[in-house]
Amino acid sequence: MRSLSASAPSKLILLGEHAVVYGHPALAVALRHPQAQATVSEAGRDAAVCVELKDFSLRWNSGHGAPTAVTRSFARILEMSGRRFKAVPERGWTLSVSSDIPLGCGLGSGAAVSCAAFQAIFGYFNVPCTPQVLSDMVYEVEKLHHGTPSGIDNTVISMGRPVLFRKGEAMRFLSVPKAPFFLVIGYTGKAHKTSEIVAEVAKAKAADPAKYDAIFKEIGELSSRGAEAFQKGLFRELGKLMCRNQELLEELGVSSLELENLVRAAMEAGAFGAKLSGAGRGGCMAALVESADSAARVRSALESSGAAMSIVTEILHHENA
Ligand code: PMV
Repeated sequence: MRSLSASAPSKLILLGEHAVVYGHPALAVALRHPQAQATVSEAGRDAAVCVELKDFSLRWNSGHGAPTAVTRSFARILEMSGRRFKAVPERGWTLSVSSDIPLGCGLGSGAAVSCAAFQAIFGYFNVPCTPQVLSDMVYEVEKLHHGTPSGIDNTVISMGRPVLFRKGEAMRFLSVPKAPFFLVIGYTGKAHKTSEIVAEVAKAKAADPAKYDAIFKEIGELSSRGAEAFQKGLFRELGKLMCRNQELLEELGVSSLELENLVRAAMEAGAFGAKLSGAGRGGCMAALVESADSAARVRSALESSGAAMSIVTEILHHENA
């Protein structure tokens, strides 16, 4: 039986979440782990396309019944693939999807699953697709869940490169420093709903625009300075910027006790910098460290401070993406 598999990375915002929604830059990277996987395989020629969601032990048959909240993204992926690319038939194949990325934790699980699914479909049917087209298609699926996402998840995940992202502007890809560094991720175990937190921040901003505009502006400046520090391998400097960003995220009201405990634990264990990453109120935090030994120490500190999951990871860099 013929089949083709693809994977997509997770993403991590090093600096700039929330401010990015208001047009300020954010610094984000694609992570080698965790990742999402998708496989397209041959099925009976007349069989309706079947989507298998392995993590939910769920099968959805595209010919039967309306999609549910869980399968809605896949209905859109199938519809978009078929509409845009005539080579993708309406019958005779199965799409299986799984992901190691916890849902709603700031690592871009939805965009990664969509990206892996599109890549497996295009690979299987030999449809050429540029990273930019892929990114635009993933964005369309993201809109189903997040309303008006900034576009950072689909961009970083589809391009697989570190970027300084600014809504509506040409992408600025960043070179990866030669000096080694590691990221340690701590998950609070609490999933968050990005669209709700973004809406609450918008409400608070409407009530006090001067305060929020000043915070967003400073966060944007941290991202720009962070991009320079990142490229030069100035990790001590980058770490300081992350810590300042965490303070500003606390002022925005998107942090939580759990996140702050993990951030503190990482700093006490020797991280250069640590902050929540993504929408906040739960989800993940990330710490920047210089060596594998230091990463192990930070990881163990996160585990003893209540992290539901922790991972030491590296960034992904597709030179030719
Ligand atoms: O969905 P998350 O947790 O990865 O957060 C995305 C970052 C935000 O800036 C809060 C929202 C956005 O669309 O950029």
